[in-house]
Amino acid sequence: MSTTTISVPSPADFHVHLRQGNLSQLVTPHVREGGFRLAYVMPNLTPPITTTDQALEYKATLERIDPETEFLMTLYLSPDLTPDEVRRAKAAGIVGVKSYPRGVTTNSDGGIESYEAYYPAFGAMQEVDMVLNLHGEVPSDASANIHVINAEPTFLPHLRKLHAHFPRLRIVLEHATTRAAVETVKSLGATVACTITAHHLALTVDDWAGQSWNYCKPIAKFPDDREALRQVIREGHPRFFLGSDSAPHPSMKKSTSSPDHGCAAGIYTSPILLPLTAHLLESFGALDKLEGFVSKNGRAFYKKEIASIDGNNIVRLRKRKAGVTGTYSLKEEEVVSFWAGKELDWEIDN
Ligand code: NCD
Ligand code: DOR
Ligand code: ZN
Ligand code: ZN
Repeated sequence: MSTTTISVPSPADFHVHLRQGNLSQLVTPHVREGGFRLAYVMPNLTPPITTTDQALEYKATLERIDPETEFLMTLYLSPDLTPDEVRRAKAAGIVGVKSYPRGVTTNSDGGIESYEAYYPAFGAMQEVDMVLNLHGEVPSDASANIHVINAEPTFLPHLRKLHAHFPRLRIVLEHATTRAAVETVKSLGATVACTITAHHLALTVDDWAGQSWNYCKPIAKFPDDREALRQVIREGHPRFFLGSDSAPHPSMKKSTSSPDHGCAAGIYTSPILLPLTAHLLESFGALDKLEGFVSKNGRAFYKKEIASIDGNNIVRLRKRKAGVTGTYSLKEEEVVSFWAGKELDWEIDN
């Protein structure tokens, strides 16, 4: 085997925002173009995807855009989620439920602050074996000194408590950004896993302060936190895997000069995701963990192992420098990729 190519069986992105309308037409094909064959699709649309019927309709729309990508769906946790709806969702092939804390991120105004009201739903999820996806941040609260820097560590006791109440419920702490989160997930049982984005392996606070294209939620933290994310991948820990949180926003909404809103939170990585992930893992000595991180670990946790190795689903990378395309557009939609204008050391070898 040549040292300058890598083959990865059926890469899976376990956290991606595919949006709706023309933006969805633009970004959905980029999942496969970026090297991925499975997309675990976030439900924070306007209005959010809260019911089985909505999720099935959204899935069908995505399949019309790209019939070759496998889309797995998760519902937006809301009062609509009764135990009966949980059982209906499970029967329809919906995989999980995503909880957003109120106000902490894009389109999460209808999200939740307290979990107690959802215990009946979580109990049903545990019984039918659905996955709970947690956006692990508490809302900012000046009177309690809670802000973007400590929102994730402050959330971790909620994760511990949920796991204690529902030890058989599979829980994913999404897009972890802190050493505290990594240590907490490691300390919990086999039913608790964690996604890590590519961009949080690259960025720290200094990279987004004043640079709106690098701004996302949770915000990238300190160098020591980034090191903890890198280290757990280097260890090949089986309960940590890629969820890109690729979150495209129209260029206008990333502009901090817009008078109506601040800069939208979200970094767009789908079009370059596999080369970017290989580039980053190589940069911190974890290239040998690429297959586990982007395919095996997440698939095992989600029970979506590749049944038979189909040649079409092996994605090959070759070591060759390639510039990152900046702008992608369709009709009036325009999005800009992470690391636009930079070079990656790996490219997809078609
Ligand atoms: C949480 C708590 O009270 O810590 N409950 C839980 O995780 N079981 C969530 C909350 O009520 O905010
Ligand atoms: O940066 C983010 N953008 N974080 C999220 O959790 C949501 C996402 C989005 O939907 O734009
Ligand atoms: Zn989130
Ligand atoms: Zn997200």
